[in-house]
Amino acid sequence: MMWSERTIWWCIVFICVKQGVSQNVSSLSKVSENCESGKRQDCADCRTVKICSYDQTVLTSYKCQDVEPDKPYCVGSGICSSDYDSESACGVADDLCPSTKAGFYPDPSNCTQYIYCDEKKIATPVSCLAANNAYNHSSSSCFLRKVLDDCFQVNCELLQNRNKWFIYKPFPQLYFFCSMSGLPVMFECPREFEVYDVKLQRCKFECRESGRFPYPGDNKKYYECVYVTPFKLELFEQRCPLQLTYDEEKRICNVK
Ligand SMILES: *[C@@H]1O[C@H](CO)[C@@H](O)[C@H](O)[C@H]1NC(C)=O
Ligand SMILES: *[C@@H]1O[C@H](CO)[C@@H](O)[C@H](O)[C@H]1NC(C)=O
Ligand SMILES: *[C@@H]1O[C@H](CO)[C@@H](O)[C@H](O)[C@H]1NC(C)=O
Repeated sequence: MMWSERTIWWCIVFICVKQGVSQNVSSLSKVSENCESGKRQDCADCRTVKICSYDQTVLTSYKCQDVEPDKPYCVGSGICSSDYDSESACGVADDLCPSTKAGFYPDPSNCTQYIYCDEKKIATPVSCLAANNAYNHSSSSCFLRKVLDDCFQVNCELLQNRNKWFIYKPFPQLYFFCSMSGLPVMFECPREFEVYDVKLQRCKFECRESGRFPYPGDNKKYYECVYVTPFKLELFEQRCPLQLTYDEEKRICNVK
């Protein structure tokens, strides 16, 4: 049993590492130096428009997202659009996007920015408006940092962090792997109240408040979290009395 689980996880790790090499959020916004001759406007990268003079100098550039938030991509001869060119770097799935659903996600290596992942796992970086702010994944917005712990970030480029799993502490349903090449790869546990167990290499239920919670895959059972001391919650696996099944809405065993 243990063996088959290990095998599956190692395969996933291998894919992460492979993808990590070719995908790099920060490299998406690299601005190319010169302009093509005769062009006054062009795409610097798939999100940035550049304005040029006829002597091929870039006069200025701007992010489409800053000008037209619903048209974040630069296409063709420097036009902002809601869709990216299929062959552009914007079309590459980003490892910061977990495979679960579209939405905002933290950048685990920088608390002052976050990303939007669309359905195709294409990431659009977003920065907190002020440098002393940090991203809050519960509200998908930034807040003023008051204590050091308000900023959670792990530098995946440091050698001691590479090839290692981390829980995203402010929102432990999220966890990430720092690849061998120093890039974070984000994952999300499938259910609320689940936390990744680094040793077991799988997500498991964790008590965060008292009460009853559904047991995945078996409606005759449920989890119950109970305070055993004023500060310590403990997890119990309970079974409904015969003939009853766990009712998620009423949070109790009920007649079905
Ligand atoms: C990612 O992008 C940064 C900034 O452009 C660059 O310094 C770094 O080498 C890139 N990493 C990889 C693995 O391409
Ligand atoms: C985090 O990102 C901001 C821009 O969004 C940048 O100014 C800052 O240097 C980055 N910090 C780190 C630690 O990479
Ligand atoms: C983060 O957002 C949640 C939900 O809006 C809120 O309850 C919580 O207090 C926020 N955390 C911080 C540190 O601002």
